[in-house]
Amino acid sequence: MKTTFSIIKADVGGCPGHAKVHPELEKVATKQLTEARRSKLIIDFHVTHCGDDLELIMTHTNGVDSREIHQLAWDTFCAATEVARDLGLYGAGQDLLVDAFSGNVRGMGPGVAEMEFTERKAEPVIAFMMDKTEPGAFNYPIFKIFADPFNTAGLVIDPSLHEGFVFEVWDIMEHKHVFMKTPEEMYDLLALIGAKSRFVIKRVFPKEGGKLPDDEPVAAISTEKLYQIAGEYVGKDDPVGVVRAQSGLPAVGEVLEGFSKAHLVSGWMRGSHNGPLMPVSVEQAQCTRFDGPPRVIALGFQLRNGKLTAPLDLFKDPAFDRIREEALHITDYMRQHGPFEPHRLPMQDMEYTTLPKVMKKLGARFKKIK
Ligand code: F6R
Ligand code: MG
Ligand code: MG
Repeated sequence: MKTTFSIIKADVGGCPGHAKVHPELEKVATKQLTEARRSKLIIDFHVTHCGDDLELIMTHTNGVDSREIHQLAWDTFCAATEVARDLGLYGAGQDLLVDAFSGNVRGMGPGVAEMEFTERKAEPVIAFMMDKTEPGAFNYPIFKIFADPFNTAGLVIDPSLHEGFVFEVWDIMEHKHVFMKTPEEMYDLLALIGAKSRFVIKRVFPKEGGKLPDDEPVAAISTEKLYQIAGEYVGKDDPVGVVRAQSGLPAVGEVLEGFSKAHLVSGWMRGSHNGPLMPVSVEQAQCTRFDGPPRVIALGFQLRNGKLTAPLDLFKDPAFDRIREEALHITDYMRQHGPFEPHRLPMQDMEYTTLPKVMKKLGARFKKIK
């Protein structure tokens, strides 16, 4: 049986400001998805939040880009928006960029990571959800998980991983994609994905001839770019990703090890700053200091015929305390730069800027340098 695992997310209102999703929004989403499970549109679901993003994790058999599933997500976000408006939450309906649903939430504001695959005898799946950053934040950990032998021991010592993987990379400016193999094309791959605001890893596939079908992804990441969708820059799109693990794939611990660095990502305050990505528990998934720092949560499930076990909150563990500690040191250090790069993003990547106004005001006071 083929199962589809979909994470669809949107910011439809924060409390206070952009800090966190209000519990009432999760409640209304749970109600809607319970009904969809009862009517058998979906097999199972889990509702959660990361910062101000409402996260719908759903399993079903409709395949990716299903009109019915996307409509369900859209209707759920609309219902949550109504509650957000009633409660006076901040930015109610912020990520619903159009008035009416037109078949697929892609291009309408929400972010989507989904994949369809044949369930193995036992299928561990991890849902990653980030706030106050952008899809390129996944490049570093996904590369480490599937291509770095210093991260993933299995690439070296497990014959079923030893051949490596295929990365699908999207050029989000040119709307083109390319498939690249590791380890043989590792340096070329890094040349692209190091430029994380332009080239993003969309999916990872097993190689041909291995234990797993080479046309079924083992990882998928949301890559919707709000500013391209809306025709103007309206914000960074906090990304989500899904990664399968074990038996021919990186182990759960190798997948989590990819997040052991608190690497620098762009987003944070006003979508205009670099800061460390801090792995946290769901309980700690609320953005506070300087509206951050950027956060990632990880929920681990076992799947059986699309049914989800209760999730394990994978970063809720002392093993990640030092990484959080390191993220806090980096936070102090980066904050000391105030309005200076590289804490503040380069001009073209900023979500907020007053520069054109400042330049206009100074106008004639700018004289030629002799
Ligand atoms: C970043 C983010 C926040 C807001 C900031 C200002 O992604 O959501 O840092 O940009 O709180 O928000 P406004 O302009 O809504 O007052
Ligand atoms: Mg928000
Ligand atoms: Mg957000």
